[in-house]
Amino acid sequence: MTSSGAHSENSAAWNHAPLRISNNDAMQNERLGIDIGGTGIKGAPVDVKGGKLLAERFRIDTPQPATPEAVADTVGEIAKHFDWKGPIGATMPGVVKNGVILTAANIDKSWIGVDAATLFAKATGCNPVMVLNDADAAGIAEMQFGAGVGRKGVVVMVTLGTGIGFALFHDGVLMPNTELGHLEMNGKDAEDQASARVRDEKDESWRKWAKKVDEYLDHVDALLWPDLIIIGGGVSKKADKFFPHLTTRAELVAAKFENEAGIVGAALAMGL
Ligand code: BGC
Repeated sequence: MTSSGAHSENSAAWNHAPLRISNNDAMQNERLGIDIGGTGIKGAPVDVKGGKLLAERFRIDTPQPATPEAVADTVGEIAKHFDWKGPIGATMPGVVKNGVILTAANIDKSWIGVDAATLFAKATGCNPVMVLNDADAAGIAEMQFGAGVGRKGVVVMVTLGTGIGFALFHDGVLMPNTELGHLEMNGKDAEDQASARVRDEKDESWRKWAKKVDEYLDHVDALLWPDLIIIGGGVSKKADKFFPHLTTRAELVAAKFENEAGIVGAALAMGL
């Protein structure tokens, strides 16, 4: 992934880090992963060689309103909790380019145009800080250590939560910020019809909701002809309730990572 000016400067600092920690090779494989969502902000140090959390994850409710300053303070608290001084990878639920947030479908609109990487670096005193889209991070975790390991061809990760997150891989390489959760379906945003939030809000049966997910996946199929679709988000734990109602052509699997996908993926992305 490309780096912002701030990130490039920080990357230079990271290149020198092994000098400081040369007597402890293991530390070079550790990053703090932070997953920023609409209800909670969660973090943990991650062993990027094994894709495993190195400590119990720490969660703080997302401040409301979730302005950049308030979220940055919370990110700072998470780094402080782990007494973290090293590299950080963080997710945001929007398009992220060079650390800058470009869309805000489910987050405070004041995020648009904010350089989140620089903001979080200031709030934590850590560098480098890398910020990427939450679904892209979840997809990276699945491709390296989860349901997509070793899978070539076109793999898509669809996260069904407050929104619909989407990550696209070809032969294991991510094409970032695809945002196909916002495909038009029946003249409306697919996210407002088939996300897990909509099922909760409307108290729909699994079968009724699965029909809309199925219709959505058919749209994805018509556009991308994926070889594998990985379904993530909290509902992936309940795959047995709705997978039987899905008829999509492509092979379908539930994500292996549950709540930890964003944390692990953010930490892994920091090293890419
Ligand atoms: C956002 C995406 C995000 C997804 C899941 C959508 O509303 O546009 O960037 O990945 O929600 O959080």
